Amino acid sequence: MLSFRGWGIIMRIDIISVLPELLESPMQHSIMKRAQEKGLLKVHIHYLRKWAVNEYGQVDDYQYGGGAGMVMMCEPLAKAIEELFAERNYDEVIYLTPDGEMLEQKIANSLSLKENIMMICGHYKGIDERIREHFVTKEISIGNYVLSGGELAAAVLVDCIGRLIPGVLNDETSALFDSFQDNLLAPPVYTRPEDFRGWKVPDALLSGNHRLIEEWRNEQSLKRTRERRPGLLENQ
Ligand code: ADE
Repeated sequence: MLSFRGWGIIMRIDIISVLPELLESPMQHSIMKRAQEKGLLKVHIHYLRKWAVNEYGQVDDYQYGGGAGMVMMCEPLAKAIEELFAERNYDEVIYLTPDGEMLEQKIANSLSLKENIMMICGHYKGIDERIREHFVTKEISIGNYVLSGGELAAAVLVDCIGRLIPGVLNDETSALFDSFQDNLLAPPVYTRPEDFRGWKVPDALLSGNHRLIEEWRNEQSLKRTRERRPGLLENQ
């Protein structure tokens, strides 16, 4: 049964992990907490050891071909995934991995329109390739560096998707003006006082003239993008 969030559908995210504690806290604060309290987002964290291959809670093993580092085994992951598959259809099964597609705003935008997403967090040397081949539909990296596991990457992904769900942010339009939404970085922002130690807020922002303010912000966005991320302008 579909449940509606205004003009959309409530999003459910299931995360499979060997370190659920790492994921719990980010989901219990601030915007992610509000999204769940408002009933717009449901995040379920599943402890992979529930599907361990033995009573010792084993979910990983040595890699074929030798070499240091353990690999997460097929069986616990396949069982966990299939148990969730039996309950609902998933739009995406995402594996967080440094060799995945680089996370960008446009990926978050498109994922924020989905209904059910599953995320798999790897550890050690990663997960057995056969799970990637047979279950995973999307592989995402949050940057060119290696984390100890996929949990922090999953938390980043949930956060940047969750805040895009309509109704999650107080001022719904504000996500539209985030950095990257138009392939532009956001302009500088200021708050009171107008003068702090002689450091002044730009005149345009104090002018009360909305056209002038918008022009100033557009100019600053462009300047910032040119200086800091010129590559974004090539994608315009
Ligand atoms: N797991 C380990 N490193 C990662 C990264 N950079 N992005 C996503 N998942 C990861």
